[in-house]
Amino acid sequence: MLPLFASLLLVATALSASSPPALALDNGACTDDYCGLFDFCYEEEIMQMADAMASVSSGMQDLGYQYINLDDCWGGPRSANGTLTADTSRFPSGSLAKVTSYVHSLGLKMGLYLCAGNETCKYKRPGSWGYFDQDAQTVADWGIDFVKLDWCNHPNLPPPTVYGMMRDSLNKTGRPIVFSACEWGEDEPWTWGMETANMWRVHKDHLPLWGSEQGTANIIQSMAHLSKYAGPGGWNDPDFLMTMLPPLTERESRTEFAFWALFAAPLIVATDIRNMTDVKQSILLNPEVIAINQDAFAIAGDIALNNTDGTQVWTKPLSPSVDNRYAVILYNSNDVGDKNITIPWSILNWGNNAQAEVRDLWARERIGYIKANYTAINVPPRGHMLISITILQ
Ligand SMILES: *[C@@H]1O[C@H](CO)[C@@H](O)[C@H](O)[C@H]1NC(C)=O
Ligand SMILES: *[C@@H]1O[C@H](CO)[C@@H](O)[C@H](O)[C@H]1NC(C)=O
Ligand SMILES: *[C@@H]1O[C@H](CO)[C@@H](O)[C@H](O)[C@H]1NC(C)=O
Ligand SMILES: *[C@@H]1O[C@H](CO)[C@@H](O)[C@H](O)[C@H]1NC(C)=O
Ligand SMILES: *[C@@H]1O[C@H](CO)[C@@H](O)[C@H](O)[C@H]1NC(C)=O
Ligand SMILES: *[C@@H]1O[C@H](CO)[C@@H](O)[C@H](O)[C@H]1NC(C)=O
Ligand SMILES: *[C@@H]1O[C@H](CO)[C@@H](O)[C@H](O)[C@H]1NC(C)=O
Repeated sequence: MLPLFASLLLVATALSASSPPALALDNGACTDDYCGLFDFCYEEEIMQMADAMASVSSGMQDLGYQYINLDDCWGGPRSANGTLTADTSRFPSGSLAKVTSYVHSLGLKMGLYLCAGNETCKYKRPGSWGYFDQDAQTVADWGIDFVKLDWCNHPNLPPPTVYGMMRDSLNKTGRPIVFSACEWGEDEPWTWGMETANMWRVHKDHLPLWGSEQGTANIIQSMAHLSKYAGPGGWNDPDFLMTMLPPLTERESRTEFAFWALFAAPLIVATDIRNMTDVKQSILLNPEVIAINQDAFAIAGDIALNNTDGTQVWTKPLSPSVDNRYAVILYNSNDVGDKNITIPWSILNWGNNAQAEVRDLWARERIGYIKANYTAINVPPRGHMLISITILQ
């Protein structure tokens, strides 16, 4: 089953062509960062995040969130023998072993960022090019469970070659490590991802914005027609969830989460989980929405109808029996104007007389038993309705 992640990320800088947004640290070093994203990347902060994820009141761990991931924020210089070290201003021992051991003690797992080039994207921390075997062994020795390999300053070789090298380096350590290929979707990583990594980014960094090339709306569209490449062991990765990070609104944040769930995408939370608001909790911790993401069929959802009025219908087959149950997003992709959006049973290959139970997954309540089609009424712009439809036998 697909692991869920909470991520401590580093802020993607406005200047960085690369990856990761996240939680950052307001230490004055981040003045070129934007959108109120901060790195949370001190030993103490990481342990606080792990505590928050593991706490009963947050409920995250119970729902399946299990990884604490650091992005490009932790690296110190290489030591004389070439071993990668951690920035001692953040990790006094120069290693991630202590914090990883703490995270493990809570029953959680630890993820770490590396870069395929010879420098990372931010602040020129050491990249792994030329050191793949050594760095893989170092992070394995620290107990790391997840590695994201970024693509800044990459060597002039095809991405499948470079990512295949790190796959092999990680394999040689003998430690099971989830491998995330962050090549920004440049070379159709879905076509080579499954044999190379456990997840592959389909696009440039996702930023906490609705419009723009790197905004949520465009990332959603960039996931269309990619479902066939995903499955157990390998997933399309639309990047971090920007839940309620300004200027993303609640409605936009809900639409984001519903789509990530339908995509069977890694759920990597970029917001501060230490002090969640009710709204954040209602989005990130809705068990019926998470169940769509984690469904036992492990089939990614995809677009089924792209209507000329800017509305779309996306579907995901659900367990337990083939062609009997679907998750459906009725999506109004327009920036203005409410829409009524219909899913006709015909696109599920059901007859008009088929009776089906329709359930509102956000509200967690049954809507009714319905024939022929279901119409979501007055769906606001950038909003959606997320339902499950189960045919009655
Ligand atoms: C490399 O140097 C580091 C830091 O000085 C040390 O902890 C490590 O044991 C050394 N590794 C090897 C293989 O010599
Ligand atoms: C980075 O790698 C290139 C080759 O890919 C090499 O020519 C260059 O010297 C390296 N730079 C550093 C800072 O190691
Ligand atoms: C290494 O690869 C082999 C062959 O794919 C696989 O059976 C094994 O489980 C892998 N081991 C690790 C630690 O990834
Ligand atoms: C948590 O949020 C509340 C309400 O926004 C605020 O009053 C409190 O200071 C926050 N606590 C922490 C530790 O951030
Ligand atoms: C949906 O249709 C619009 C044109 O109406 C097009 O611009 C867009 O790319 C289509 N989206 C998908 C995912 O096919
Ligand atoms: C949606 O349908 C309802 C009637 O079922 C109607 O009152 C409403 O005006 C429609 N909304 C839109 C945006 O067309
Ligand atoms: C939905 O089904 C009803 C009953 O068959 C039919 O009258 C109606 O035209 C359908 N609506 C749409 C939008 O397909």
